[in-house]
Amino acid sequence: MRVALVGKGGVGKSAVAGTFARMLARRGEPVLAVDSDPMPGLAYCLGMPVDDAAIPEDAVVERAEGEKGPRFRLRPGLAAEQAVAQFAVPGPDGVHFLQFGKLRSGRDHFRSQFAFRQILAELPVDAWHLVGDLPGGTRQPFFGWGSYADTVLVVVEPTAKALLTGRKLARLAQAKHAPERIYAVVNRVRRASDVDDVTDRTGLEVIGVVPWDDEFAAAERAGEAPIDAVPDAAAVVAVEQLVDAVAGERTS
Ligand SMILES: Nc1ncnc2c1ncn2[C@@H]1O[C@H](COP(=O)(O)OP(=O)(O)OP(=O)(O)O)[C@@H](O)[C@H]1O
Ligand SMILES: [Mg+2]
Repeated sequence: MRVALVGKGGVGKSAVAGTFARMLARRGEPVLAVDSDPMPGLAYCLGMPVDDAAIPEDAVVERAEGEKGPRFRLRPGLAAEQAVAQFAVPGPDGVHFLQFGKLRSGRDHFRSQFAFRQILAELPVDAWHLVGDLPGGTRQPFFGWGSYADTVLVVVEPTAKALLTGRKLARLAQAKHAPERIYAVVNRVRRASDVDDVTDRTGLEVIGVVPWDDEFAAAERAGEAPIDAVPDAAAVVAVEQLVDAVAGERTS
């Protein structure tokens, strides 16, 4: 599966994505968790202390004068699959992690962004499951960043602002580069009516419901992945059900 999580800032994209990726990896699947947020947070939710691994500068070359295509690309001879083998960082349960790196100034950041996108665009579909954490808001998902995904999960919490962002994302996704599937994941649910609110306001089918869970948040505050610190917490169990639901949709 190739899943991208989108939604308003702070709704729980990284926490859900990290737990999702680890759960899927535990099933023995090759999982590449990808963070395209310039303020990365996914590594911590995966239980990996890395936040600085990036695609190295010498893996990327600039387009020659008169050449067509993007300004920067992977060094000739370096295929996307090899780049992942070299630059993705292995983590617990065998999950692998790729990010384009911290927000750095100028050119380096730019180079690494192009390479990151090229890798995701050219990686053979059967090589890895992708679980992507996109930055908050509506911009990035619709400028090609989420185009590797066949399933977009719009994470929504039952607050007026998050619902509004969820609704915008749902509309944009259907209008533009429509992914094969788009669903809502309702996070930080406190009451049953929260789920109805999301259905009514976004028009999206709800594929997962994650309860408000103090243990989940506490694990993160302590700098640990929820799946490691509180494996039986209600929110972790709910993300496991989400993995089942997404996997089930894909085979049906
Ligand atoms: N179900 C939940 N119950 C309680 N707290 C949660 C739940 N889901 C996420 N959180 C907490 O909410 C905070 C924000 O979550 P997270 O960082 O995953 O959001 P995000 O959408 O990735 O944010 P950003 O847009 O800034 O990247 C974290 O402290 C996290 O632990
Ligand atoms: Mg995040």
